[in-house]
Amino acid sequence: MSDTIYPDRARVDAHDKVRGVTRFAADVPLPRLAYAMTVPSRIVRGRLAAIDIDAAAALDGVLRVLTWRDFDGIKSAGYLMGGGFGFQSHQPMLSDQLVHRGEPIALVVAETLEIAIEAAALIQPRYEEEPFASLLDDARAETLDPQPAHNVGDAEAALAAAAFSVEAEYFSPAQFQNPMELIATVAEWRDGTLTLHEGTQNSGALKFGTAAALGLDPARVRVNSAYLGGGFGQKNSLQSQTVLAARAAILLGRPVKLVMPRAQLFHTASFRPASRHRIRLGANADGRIIAARYDADMQNSRADTFRASFSEITARLYAIENYTSSARLVRTDIQSPGYMRAPFEHPAAFAFESAVDELAYAAGRDPLAFRIANDAQTDPVTGGPFSSRFLAECLRDGAERFGWSRRDPAPGSMRAPDGTLIGWGVAVGAYKAAMAPAIARLRVRADGTTRIAVSGHEMGQGIRTAILAAVTEGLAIDPARVEIVIGDPDAAPQHVTAGSWGTASSVPVVRRAVQAMQVQFDELRNGRTVNGTIHQMLARWRRPYIEVETRLQAPGQPDAVFDRLQRGLPAAGGPEYKPFVSFSYIAHFVEVRVEPTTRRIRVPRVVSVVDCGRVVSPRTAESQVHGGVVWGIGAALREAGEIDPRFGGVLNNDLAEYIVPVNADIGAIDVAFINRPDPLLNDAGVKGLGEVSMVGVAAAIANAVYHATGRRVRQLPMRIDDLI
Ligand code: MOS
Repeated sequence: MSDTIYPDRARVDAHDKVRGVTRFAADVPLPRLAYAMTVPSRIVRGRLAAIDIDAAAALDGVLRVLTWRDFDGIKSAGYLMGGGFGFQSHQPMLSDQLVHRGEPIALVVAETLEIAIEAAALIQPRYEEEPFASLLDDARAETLDPQPAHNVGDAEAALAAAAFSVEAEYFSPAQFQNPMELIATVAEWRDGTLTLHEGTQNSGALKFGTAAALGLDPARVRVNSAYLGGGFGQKNSLQSQTVLAARAAILLGRPVKLVMPRAQLFHTASFRPASRHRIRLGANADGRIIAARYDADMQNSRADTFRASFSEITARLYAIENYTSSARLVRTDIQSPGYMRAPFEHPAAFAFESAVDELAYAAGRDPLAFRIANDAQTDPVTGGPFSSRFLAECLRDGAERFGWSRRDPAPGSMRAPDGTLIGWGVAVGAYKAAMAPAIARLRVRADGTTRIAVSGHEMGQGIRTAILAAVTEGLAIDPARVEIVIGDPDAAPQHVTAGSWGTASSVPVVRRAVQAMQVQFDELRNGRTVNGTIHQMLARWRRPYIEVETRLQAPGQPDAVFDRLQRGLPAAGGPEYKPFVSFSYIAHFVEVRVEPTTRRIRVPRVVSVVDCGRVVSPRTAESQVHGGVVWGIGAALREAGEIDPRFGGVLNNDLAEYIVPVNADIGAIDVAFINRPDPLLNDAGVKGLGEVSMVGVAAAIANAVYHATGRRVRQLPMRIDDLI
């Protein structure tokens, strides 16, 4: 492994993005483009008894109105977590059965977007409604049996013997990803080939899933997903709308654009489900955490099983020898929930790291020293080693940067001169270090250009910048003329980019391609001493190009994972590998200020120190952590989907009422990296960063609020009302 410290370099796509040159799916200009609009169901559950489309179809400029009767022979592409490709198993508009509010019941295609919207409003459905459940606590919800998660030692016996213990319940609400780029599909049908332009984290699933749904040969489905305006897990699979737009394009013989309006997205795409967390912790008289019991409930849809894995990280944060956890899924009549940035880790860390803070106070310990003293050296779950773990270093470095030693431990003891209550809180987070199989194709040409095609999706996190850093490390090529082709399954097989495995999957395989290129070039050189770039040599030797292909999977994975990769199926490995266990870690230090009369909570400064292995792209890595911390602040103080149990819909289904932080809500965010290469996971030393950055932020804020006010808030978001 090289010891390269990767240099700070600007985001490769920054210049284009600030000039508005970057082309997102909805921007693709095509001749004869038609515009589609969906009509959402106004009921939750039941049957579409009749649908009158006459007035809509008669409107000037309407090309066609599609209902379920236009989808004969089309089937669902299946659920991503159940062997299929879709965000849920239910594909709307295949029958008259309705299973969640907001699912499309008709698709209008028109010459302009305005006409499509006008026509959609003219459609008259008649429903036969059935009773439904929308909330975790609904009488009609079905709570499944608890599934055991982790079990080591004897938690009950150890809790009974504990000198100090805490027991509490925490709640995390339904949340919605709301990427700035709406889910948008431009479908083009030409000469028996379907081309989909769509910002997705999973262009492989789009290709194979759309082919399966429409009965097409996957070789005749192309996908272009060069850029996403944010994904956050919502775009990790085939959306229901892709099949609708594709069907319309095929029936009309014209390209069709469908941009799902934000209000509909709250009901037609995945989200973070509501969850409840019951935690009991025990410590001995020496301040060692000896027992944990963690039982969670999480909302699900009726049809699909989105498994909870809350304790995957919490079982590893500390050296707790007696740990038992379980999760119950609660079936409700809602679209299938799914992955939203740090899907389980954020709510789990909020609950668990709040409880650890409560335990530290119960035991009369400083919350920072308590955490460092309980750090795990080996994995408490498997007993095996961690590939690398610098969590205690994150805590120590962060405490130094934050000035933790100046903290007065008594709650309510720190005040600004104007009476504002000051609270300082700490919490840690972890996130699995995973890797997906990847194939890289690298071509260096005599004309001065280089092309790298690899699995990966650019959702704004900076994966192109990381890939470029890897391509240009140790290769004598022109870095200004490198074409990075990602999000295109025909250029290189595409695995879903999620789970924070993007860099750890793309960069190591690209480094291997670079090494293979060096070998090829050396062979070509054949002992001759040459000056200049590879391009210049190729030109001199009249070779138009050299191309190499390399592949890499997670440690210990069989070669069969490449077969899954080639078919658009998920095949990532981790965090448990045969000889070791791998996670990224973070420590957050937060200052809150609580206005004494209004109890308004502000977060003027955060210090976050990360162990994500080696940092490949310093600029975009720091930006990721800023984004994660901001999201953590939003999750702690702002974000919640308000679901009305009478109508089964999200009431605040727009950005005016689904509140996220704005610039005025964000103070200083100081980010530091341990930047020590992981020696085992891959030879780039990369673990993973995106999601860990928000894990623990909400707990650090809750812990700071407690320190400021003496009030322990156990549900998110924490609001003024909780402190009055
Ligand atoms: Mo992420 S929530 O795994 O895209």
